[in-house]
Formats: sequence, structure tokens, C-alpha cells
Amino acid sequence: MSARFLQKVFTRSISVNRNSRLLSEKLAVHRDTPENNPNTPFKFTPENEKRIQTILANYPEGHKVAAVIPILDLAQRQNRWLPISAMNEVARILDMPKMRVYEVATFYTMFQREPVGKFHLQLCGTTPCELCGANDILATIETKLGIKPGQMTKDKLFSLEIVECLGACVNAPMIQINDDYYEDLKCSDMERILDELAAGKKPLSGPQNGRYAAEPLTGLTSLTNPPTGPGFGVRDDL
Ligand code: FES
Repeated sequence: MSARFLQKVFTRSISVNRNSRLLSEKLAVHRDTPENNPNTPFKFTPENEKRIQTILANYPEGHKVAAVIPILDLAQRQNRWLPISAMNEVARILDMPKMRVYEVATFYTMFQREPVGKFHLQLCGTTPCELCGANDILATIETKLGIKPGQMTKDKLFSLEIVECLGACVNAPMIQINDDYYEDLKCSDMERILDELAAGKKPLSGPQNGRYAAEPLTGLTSLTNPPTGPGFGVRDDL
């Protein structure tokens, strides 16, 4: 890497960070609110009660508490977000101290401990995505939906959050919406995706620029020859 290139990247990082609006907004501690307190109604559906039994069967006797993450995930999928009453219910089912469940739910940021919209937008704000335009994607979302990170639209359709690297850096900038990744985003892609979701459609997930996955957009740059067969390069007399 040339010194000039490094200087360019360094200079750009400084200017991006100085202007950054991509800040984490989650509070790790719980505060009772009218909609999220120990009396918030939560009960697993009969279908999910059965799923819990299936999940528990994966763990040997004496180690059932290891099911805390999948059961919390089930609670969140049922309720869209995870009120403290759901955490308490998980603690009751697994016969473990409530605090142990809170520790797990506050550690893993994929657990939503405040209400989120039907479509929860998790925009990656880590360096590769930020350098590739995450701030522009954020501005597009904010303008289109009229919400800031940590907020939800009035119709409860969309909520927005800035998250750390989601492991798709080579397809930056990217966003996770519920369980799907949308990658290689331009502002126009983001607008279209939001429009399609609002219209009840399912936008095509994955790279939005025509790539299948993370291969070079301009075609292969290595491994361009057909693979050699077995025995390639081995001496004939062996
Ligand atoms: Fe955005 Fe890794 S930096 S996915």
C-alpha cells in the first residue's frame, strides 16, 4: 500500500468521523415505562410452547438454561420486541434467576428491549460502511420516513437503529431489515426498498448492484482458469 493511499484513507476517515452522525443510542439498563414493565402482558402462544419443548429437548438435563438465547429469540419473534415481562417468563420457564436472563438480553444487541416497528431497520455504521456511504443512506431514510435513529414511524411500520458491523463489509454499505440483508446500497435502492416494504411487497434481499454475492462486480480477477484435475503437478513416476 503506498504512503499516498494511506494518507488519503486516513484523511478521509478523519473528515468522516468529525462529521459522523452514526452514534449508538441504546441504553443497557432497563427503566420501567407504561408499555415495558413487569406487568406488561406476555404469554407464549400454544404453538410456541411446543417449540420451547422442542428447543429444550436439544439440551441435556442440568443444562437447560443454555436454551435461554433461542427462547428469548422466540419471545421476540412472537412479540416483535422483548418486554421485561417476556424475559421474566423465560426465566420462569428455565428456572433461572431473572438477572441471568437480563444479562443475556442486554449483552446481545439483536434483542430489542424497546418496541420496534414491523420493519426494523438496522443500518451498519462501522468504518467500511461509513466510508462507502452509510451517512448518505441514513440521510435518505431520515428524510423519507421522518425518523432519527432510535425512533419509530407513527404508523409503527418502520423503526431505525444504527448498529455495528454486521459482517457484510465487502458489500458495504448495507442494512439489515428484520432477518434480511440489503447490500451494495445506493440511496435510490434504499428509497425503493422502503417503498416496496410499505406497499406490502418483499424486496429482493442481498446485493442491490447486480452481484450474486461478494464476487468482483467486473468479473473474476483470479481463479479464471478451469481447475486442474487430480494429480496435477505430480511426478509421473510417483
Ligand atoms: Fe458494515 Fe462490516 S462495516 S457490514
